[in-house]
Amino acid sequence: MPDDAVVAGIDVGTTKVCTIIGRPQTDGRLEILGVGLTPSAGLKRGVIVDREEAIASIRASVEVACRQGDVELSSAWVGVTGAHISSVNVTGRTNVAPGPAISAQDVQRAVQSARDAVPLPQDRQIIHEVVRGFTIDGESGITRPLGMSGRRLDVELHAVTGTASIVENIERCVEDAGIAVARRVLEPIATGTAVITDAERDLGVILIDVGGGTSDVAVFLDGSIAHTSAIPVGGNHCTRDLARLLRVSFEEAEKLKCRYARATPEGVGPEESVQVELADGSASELVPLQLVAEILEPRLEEIFTLVRSNIARSGVYEQASAGVVLSGGGSQLPGTPGLASAVLDDLPVRVGSPRGISGHADAATPVHATGVGLALLAAEEGASATQPKPEGGGLLTRLRGWFERILPRA
Ligand SMILES: Nc1ncnc2c1ncn2[C@@H]1O[C@H](COP(=O)(O)OP(=O)(O)OP(=O)(O)O)[C@@H](O)[C@H]1O
Ligand SMILES: [Mg+2]
Repeated sequence: MPDDAVVAGIDVGTTKVCTIIGRPQTDGRLEILGVGLTPSAGLKRGVIVDREEAIASIRASVEVACRQGDVELSSAWVGVTGAHISSVNVTGRTNVAPGPAISAQDVQRAVQSARDAVPLPQDRQIIHEVVRGFTIDGESGITRPLGMSGRRLDVELHAVTGTASIVENIERCVEDAGIAVARRVLEPIATGTAVITDAERDLGVILIDVGGGTSDVAVFLDGSIAHTSAIPVGGNHCTRDLARLLRVSFEEAEKLKCRYARATPEGVGPEESVQVELADGSASELVPLQLVAEILEPRLEEIFTLVRSNIARSGVYEQASAGVVLSGGGSQLPGTPGLASAVLDDLPVRVGSPRGISGHADAATPVHATGVGLALLAAEEGASATQPKPEGGGLLTRLRGWFERILPRA
C-alpha cells in the first residue's frame, strides 16, 4: 500500500453522521486524520425517511472530516443497519473438482451453494456475508482451504439479509452526497472490529451498540461472527420517555439525560435535583434525579431484555464466555453496564471504545466506534478510498480480490 493511501468510513446514524478518515500505519494502527461528527436528519431507526435531509447531513459530516484531514474524499466504506436486518448461518457443500488441490473455483462453488441455502423472500437481499470456516472431508476449523487436498468442501457462511430498498436508499444518499460506496458493512460488525479484542472474539462475546434509534447486536464465537440483529429501541426512546413524563421538550430531556442522569436510581441521592424548562414555556421545575433514573431504568431494561431473548432465540446466548461489550452513545449513561449485567444473568459487561487508532483522541469514544470500525476494515483490506489533496480527486478505490473479502480473519 502506498504511504499516502488513506481510507474512510461513514456511519449514517439516526442521531449523527460520523465520517472517519485515516491513514494505515506500518504497525497496523490507523492514524486518524479527520473526524466529522455532525447531527443527522432524515433518518428514523437507521432508515432514511427524508432523502434531502439525509444527503445534506452526510455532506456536512464529510466536509468536516475532509477539512480536518486536508484530504478530498471520493469513496468510503458505509455502514448499514436497521430493524429490517436478520441473520442466518448456513452451510454450503461442493465436491472438489479433479486436480491436485482445492481451487478458487471449488471455494466459489461451495460459497454459492451456501448462499443458495439462505431463505430470501422477494424484497430481501443478502446485504453482508462472512465465511465462518471450512470443512474438508469432515475435518472442520479450516480457515484457508486453497491449495489443500480434499474431495468434499463444506463452508459455513454467516449471511445477513435486509430489505433491498432500505439498503439501496442509504447507498444512494451517500452517492448523491458525492461519495462512492466502496463497500457496505453491517454496522455491528464494523463496531465489533473497533471495540472487541481478538481474545474476546475467540472466547465468545456479545456486542450491544446502543444507538439513538436501534440497538445493534453481534455475537462473536470462536473468532468469528455467529449472530447479528438490530432491536428497534435505543437511546432516543429513553429521551422521549423523559420528555413525555416530565412534560419537557425532546431537546431539554436529551440535555438532562446526557448531563445529569444515571441508568438506575442506585447511587443517586434523594436531594439531587435539576431545574428543567417545561415544554409549554410556562415555568421551570425542579426535578429529582432519582425520578429521572426511575423513568430511564425500565426502558433500558426493556432494551437488554429484548437483546437477551433475541440472542437466546439464536441459540448462542450461553456461549459468550467473555461477557458483553457495550458501545454506541447510549452506553455512556452512567450505571448502564451494571443494569445490563443484571438483565443479562450477571455476565461481565464493559463499555468498549475504539482501539487500534492513533491521532485524534476525540475519535476514541463509543459514539465513534462504528465509523472507526468501518475505516479499520477498509484499512485491513488495503482499500485506498481517498486521496490526499495535492494529487487531486479521482476514485482510487483499490479492492483486493474476492477472497480477501470473504475469507475469515486469520
Ligand atoms: N453522555 C451520554 N449519556 C447518555 N446518553 C448519551 C450520551 N451521549 C449520547 N447519548 C445517547 O446516545 C444516543 C446516540 O447514540 P449513537 O450516536 O451511537 O446513535 P446513532 O448511531 O446516531 O443511532 P443508530 O445507531 O440507532 O442509527 C442518543 O440517544 C443519545 O441520547
Ligand atoms: Mg449507530
